[in-house]
Amino acid sequence: MSNWARLSLLATLAAAPAAAGPLGRPALPAEIAAWNIDIRPDGAGLPEGRGSVTDGEALYAEACAACHGDFGEGLGRYPALAGGQGTLKADRPTKTVGSFWPHLSTLFDYTRRAMPAYQGQSLTADQVYALTAYILNLNDLVPADFTLRRQNFTTIRLPNVAGFRPDDRATVEDPLFHQPPCREACGTRPQITARASPGLTPDAR
Ligand code: HEC
Repeated sequence: MSNWARLSLLATLAAAPAAAGPLGRPALPAEIAAWNIDIRPDGAGLPEGRGSVTDGEALYAEACAACHGDFGEGLGRYPALAGGQGTLKADRPTKTVGSFWPHLSTLFDYTRRAMPAYQGQSLTADQVYALTAYILNLNDLVPADFTLRRQNFTTIRLPNVAGFRPDDRATVEDPLFHQPPCREACGTRPQITARASPGLTPDAR
């Protein structure tokens, strides 16, 4: 931008009238609904629908395998979607949907929201059910003739669900750090058992 253009832009901005009242407007119900697509571990938010492992396999080959590999093994730097069970305690754990993720709802939500990469929210509910079923099958968690639906969704438990627990710091840890400070008779006197060098460790008072 030339200096002249910059100057005239500044002049235009300076001349703009101040906005009247608060900015923006309340979101419309349809706008809220478009954002409100999260799915919870208890199945809340799941759309009606169904999809089989077989349907998912065909769709996966077409829309996902180019990045995630034919069997979910991950290609190049694209993440693996299967395998890694039993590696979580290894120095280099392989964290996948099957080995690490605690809840199936995250797989459904994430796929629907963000995949295929750069084409998020382009899949139908049935397609996401089918892909989820296929990824479960790649992780040996459901048989090849399985069909996933809203009604049986919460019967599937991922192997690492017990590896996660709710964040209870607000009730368990925080109170420990918010006791009133002790001012007198605060427990037993420390015993000095060794000294760094003469004069460095203070004498007990
Ligand atoms: C163009 C490449 C590409 C395609 C095609 C693609 N993905 Fe992905 N996928 C990615 C990338 C990149 C990430 C990691 C994104 C990140 O971590 O921010 C990812 C992450 C994921 C994850 C999360 C993995 C994890 O453990 O974090 C899932 C699940 C997934 N993709 C499923 C799918 C499915 C199902 C399809 C087909 C509908 C698909 N992806 C198609 C590139 C792709």
